[in-house]
Amino acid sequence: MNKIQLILGELNKNNIDVEVFIVTNMSNIKYITGEEIEGYILLEKDKTYIVTDGRYIEVANNVCKKIDNANVIDILDKEKIENILSKKCVGIEAGNITVARLNNMKEKYNFKKVIDTVNIVEKIRCIKINEELDKIREACKITDKAYEYIKVYIKPGMTEKEVKNELEYYMKKLGAEDVSFSAIVAFGANSSKPHHVSGDTKLNKQDIVLIDFGCKVDGYCSDMTRTFFIGGITEKQKEIYNIVLNIQLEAEKNAVKGVNVKHLDNIVRADFDKHNLTEKYLHSLGHGVGLDIHEMPSLSYKSDCNLEKGMVVTIEPGLYFENEFGIRIEDTIIITDGKPEILFNSSKEIQII
Ligand code: GLY
Ligand code: MN
Repeated sequence: MNKIQLILGELNKNNIDVEVFIVTNMSNIKYITGEEIEGYILLEKDKTYIVTDGRYIEVANNVCKKIDNANVIDILDKEKIENILSKKCVGIEAGNITVARLNNMKEKYNFKKVIDTVNIVEKIRCIKINEELDKIREACKITDKAYEYIKVYIKPGMTEKEVKNELEYYMKKLGAEDVSFSAIVAFGANSSKPHHVSGDTKLNKQDIVLIDFGCKVDGYCSDMTRTFFIGGITEKQKEIYNIVLNIQLEAEKNAVKGVNVKHLDNIVRADFDKHNLTEKYLHSLGHGVGLDIHEMPSLSYKSDCNLEKGMVVTIEPGLYFENEFGIRIEDTIIITDGKPEILFNSSKEIQII
């Protein structure tokens, strides 16, 4: 089944009966078209319209050659758009479209009814096809190489920003089209903040280093975290590192088809509880990865879904001690029929450089 049929099927499955489904989420547009096109897509039961402006018309025309019954409409062609939308019952992506944009469309196109939808395309995107998996594999391969490189490059006296810039540049040199998010490079006590913003802190001769980074290949992301040590490690760091590593390995082993994501996060919480450390676990176990760095499914005790073959998720437990240090270890993995496919080869054992 093609992507558009899958989306229409998902609307059906959720009893969302609309004449036109309006796709505004940029990642969803990329998913449908394979291209970065600003504007929106109108999906009818048997017709697709890409509504865009002069900057993307040529790209959109080429996309339409590959999709059945697809046409491009210039966003300035109000009459054509009106013919499709006016007095129609439309579905919107409520989690994406802004109030201002929706009001503007309502005013212009006089809908009969607007139905809010959430995560229709995102649910389809959860399960990756081989072509998508290959792009994620390639992004992870580059990420792996960049980690090996940065361990040799990093030296006391360098700032977090210097290391971050080098890491990001190196991934691009290896063929990444972009970074999947602004890399987190945290030295020393900065590692206790899970989303530290890399700054001017200099690396000491004895320091802990947490790096969380990834890149994109044709829009598809990778996500890796490693924590390593410069010059030595304290007893407490060693103890905490091993607790995090053991539970990371355990959670990864349990990340198989059919398991509920809540159960996975609970395995980690139960282990941290045993060590009286749950309050130092400041985020959930992981998240889906694809065209967005954070996408469905969320691996959280608050989620309720089962892992399925073709999902790509991160497994990233961490423990954080305010003003002291933090340790996180993260892999991106593919859920398969058997054991998960772990997309990084970089060592997770304690490394002192
Ligand atoms: N790797 C960044 C995050 O998952 O939030
Ligand atoms: Mn992550």
